Amino acid sequence: LFAAVEMAPRDPILGLTEAFNADTRQNKVNLGVGVYYNEEGRIPLLRAVVEAEKARLAAQAPRGYLPIEGIGAYDAAVQRLLFGSESALITEGRVVTAQALGGTGALRVGGDLLKRLLPDAAVAISNPSWENHRALFESAGFPVQQYRYYNAETHGIDRSGMLEDLRNLPPRSIIILHACCHNPTGVDLNADDWQQIIEVLKEREHVPFVDIAYQGFGDGIEQDALAARLFAQSGMSFLVSSSFSKSFSLYGERVGALSLVTQSRDESARVLSQLKRVIRTNYSNPPTHGATIVASVLNSTELRGLWEAELGEMRDRIRMMRQAMVEQLATKGARRDFTFVALQRGMFSYSGLNVEQVERLRVDHGVYAISTGRICAAALNSRNIGHVTDAIVQVLEQ
Ligand code: LMR
Repeated sequence: LFAAVEMAPRDPILGLTEAFNADTRQNKVNLGVGVYYNEEGRIPLLRAVVEAEKARLAAQAPRGYLPIEGIGAYDAAVQRLLFGSESALITEGRVVTAQALGGTGALRVGGDLLKRLLPDAAVAISNPSWENHRALFESAGFPVQQYRYYNAETHGIDRSGMLEDLRNLPPRSIIILHACCHNPTGVDLNADDWQQIIEVLKEREHVPFVDIAYQGFGDGIEQDALAARLFAQSGMSFLVSSSFSKSFSLYGERVGALSLVTQSRDESARVLSQLKRVIRTNYSNPPTHGATIVASVLNSTELRGLWEAELGEMRDRIRMMRQAMVEQLATKGARRDFTFVALQRGMFSYSGLNVEQVERLRVDHGVYAISTGRICAAALNSRNIGHVTDAIVQVLEQ
């Protein structure tokens, strides 16, 4: 049975962490995977999470099966976070939300549902995009294309290219969009861009699938929900995958959600029934712990305030690290201007380093980055940044 099985390549992101863990060098730095590390180089356990966990432990709650779509109070909190507590979509019953296994699980469940509804559609992702976007939608059975997004020369958006490509895709294509903190570039669309994109998507009857894995890491919780809010106003039907891995620092708990915006309460009921079939035949129903914690925090005024403050601290620290990186690279005489790094949003920076330079960073200096040049600025701290900037200056000189 297994004799002819070939070795699969390592995952481009998580495979790098495997290599990093096996590296015995003391000064190694993992700028590969998108994980926020604090100033001490550790993944933080948020105080809001600790408080919610204490209450949960004290309650000694039994661990029965959850409903297929997850915890009701969690799903409702996700909707308010995405669309605003006053959202008409919510009061009109036009949003269906199911708890999912992280943002990845939400994308996959959404992909499987879409495959049943639009079996012949094409999926389009940004160029570049998160490595797993392509793999996920190909695995769900879709051909995956790219639309232009990033302009490497300006370190900005290729606006006309993006709109042109979206116009040229076959009608009713599924378009994967990064709501904020674009992974991997850190370069986001503004309100005007979103409006133009929405017009094209409407015209072509495309299906928007908005991926929001970093809400609160860009400019703030409300500000980062801009794309979700604009799509909500557009009157279109669309999907949103969301994640609390980063914003609650709950990576291993796999806390995410898939939200589907429909045209009516009646449509929502039918869509939910189909979504439940997809989930039931995949992993049956989601786990209890992480979503219970997130729901308790989001539904308590006090814990929510604490969480927002902690999220703000993470966001500010990333910005400081970006700024420090730009300054150190300039002071150390890097052969390139890196000021664009401070303008990017979220965890990631598309550094512009090529495959060979990334390789040299890893081999010669123990600094791990994705081969595309993506680095995770959220893994920098005041102790490792000197080593990282020295290494970058050196590989640019080779
Ligand atoms: C990343 O892009 O590094 C994160 O989203 C983690 C992952 O699952 O790839």
